[in-house]
Amino acid sequence: MAFPQSFLDELVSRNPIDEVVSQYVNLTRKGSNLFGLCPFHSEKTGSFSVAPDKGIYYCFGCHKGGGVINFAMEIENLDYPDAVRFLAKRAGMEVPEDAGYQSTYRRQERLWALCRDAARWYHGKLQEDCGRQAREYLGKRGLSAGTVTRFGMGFAPDSWNGLIDAMAKKGYEKQDLLDAGLALKSEKRGTVYDRFRNRLMFPIIDVRGNVIGFGGRVMDDSTPKYLNSPETVIFNKRKNLFAMNVAKKSKQGRIILTEGYMDAIALHQYGFDCAVASLGTALTEEQAHLLSKYTGQIILTYDGDEAGQNATKRAIPLLEKAGLQVRVLRIQGAKDPDEFLKKYGADRFKVLLDGSQSQMDYRLESLRGKYHLENDDQKVEFLKAAAWVIASQSSPVEREIYGGRVAEMAGITPETMKLEVNKAFKSMMAKRRKEQEKKDLNPAREQQPKVRNIRYDHVRSAMAEEGVLQTVLREESLLDRLRNLPGGQFSVPLLGRAYDALQQQRLHGGLVSLAALEGQFTKEEMEHLSGVAHKGSALVKEDALQDYVKIIREEYAKREARQDQDLMGLRDRLKDKKGLNG
Ligand code: UTP
Ligand code: MN
Repeated sequence: MAFPQSFLDELVSRNPIDEVVSQYVNLTRKGSNLFGLCPFHSEKTGSFSVAPDKGIYYCFGCHKGGGVINFAMEIENLDYPDAVRFLAKRAGMEVPEDAGYQSTYRRQERLWALCRDAARWYHGKLQEDCGRQAREYLGKRGLSAGTVTRFGMGFAPDSWNGLIDAMAKKGYEKQDLLDAGLALKSEKRGTVYDRFRNRLMFPIIDVRGNVIGFGGRVMDDSTPKYLNSPETVIFNKRKNLFAMNVAKKSKQGRIILTEGYMDAIALHQYGFDCAVASLGTALTEEQAHLLSKYTGQIILTYDGDEAGQNATKRAIPLLEKAGLQVRVLRIQGAKDPDEFLKKYGADRFKVLLDGSQSQMDYRLESLRGKYHLENDDQKVEFLKAAAWVIASQSSPVEREIYGGRVAEMAGITPETMKLEVNKAFKSMMAKRRKEQEKKDLNPAREQQPKVRNIRYDHVRSAMAEEGVLQTVLREESLLDRLRNLPGGQFSVPLLGRAYDALQQQRLHGGLVSLAALEGQFTKEEMEHLSGVAHKGSALVKEDALQDYVKIIREEYAKREARQDQDLMGLRDRLKDKKGLNG
């Protein structure tokens, strides 16, 4: 949905970036900018900067950046329209909404309210007579009263209409319960009945605190063991994780990812308040992205069985792609973390946690699994492959340690392995040197944007275009002098579009700031633009501006001429061809 620009301008000015960011990050002033620890990647020294005068933020470490709307999107995990609404609420502003949105949003709000009321009702039933068996089951599983309350666990009585009737008293229609996935309709008789019956209930809560669905466990050996809410307008399994609403507040600096609800809950009870569980499906890209908003390190602790190990293998690349450091904790002597904690206690788990396998160990172990080491040829192949893996470590100590470990696996001496690793290391260095030389010969490469999918094909012009943007963002009145420079002459379409949009804002008396343009650009584009705005000196150099414009014009003229030539060349070639044929 498109919001009116005048509304967005006011929204941005009424949500000063430094104020909004300060709610999440401790900022200290350095010159005209504020600095702090980046909330989007883990770091020890602050490379996250906020420029209040420009209304933007930028991280020199992970290159995330944008205006206040973008910040709200990232930190609150919202899409663009919801981030706008979030900020409007913060500033006490009314959002001009279209009818379509109003109806979906009202629908969502109603279903959130219903799920919350249902969770309360299930929780209440747990304390009543009908909940005795469930209470006993919880006791048998060792869950404390505090844990039950913290996770809002409940009990769905063995009845076809308990929930429906209770919710009807609160004014909910049968259709609401069907839409929330809490009830089902029998095709034959057309009657509506409770989906969850005689089950222990686990509410699933999103990072904003809304109850969006449930998992329900039987208390005996019947099947299915867990019944989950279906996908609904408020429940998207791909985008949520169980217990993320609690784990996101953890100060442990990492997140433990488990397979089961019970594993996550047990971990919390034993003091690991950073545990989450996937929702009964394989980990998704969206979930990896969600995790990366709250931590830099994931400890995977899936079940020890084959299915768990396969799931681990699939999860690692997904998590790494989201920029997360991954460690793998192998559960031994128990089926899953829950069972392990009960058998061996929290201290033993802590030991496993701290000693959780680094990526390197895991990679070497997995590599070993691919070869038959009793066969000499295969053993040689394995050693060569392992040497390459180890050679990628920059520290000699680490190379030695892992080399020793591989030597042991293959039953050769550490010295022999060391030779092999050194050989691989040397070839790797030679390869890197060659790549570096190539880079050095082509300095234009260094100026290429860090953001994916944005490339500078004409670096001289691009640098001047960046200069123009930096200058006018510092002093907007200079835009008036550039009226006869169209963004269409920029070599980088994105920079040209941003420049044109700023001109428009200036022309219509709007806010001249990148922050006001967020609706018009993708997240990657905003990141790049914020990076551009953060570069360069703080001084406005008017003469430089004239130089930039001159360069942009010259380069534009050159490209035009080249295009003409190309066209002429094409015509000539076509003519020649005709001549030949004719
Ligand atoms: P597990 O069978 O490993 O369950 O399934 P668990 O978490 O250890 O549970 P307990 O200890 O037996 O109570 C792992 C996860 O897979 C999903 C659930 O999310 C569960 O937590 N699952 C499992 C289902 O969705 N349906 C099922 O029938 C079984
Ligand atoms: Mn279990």
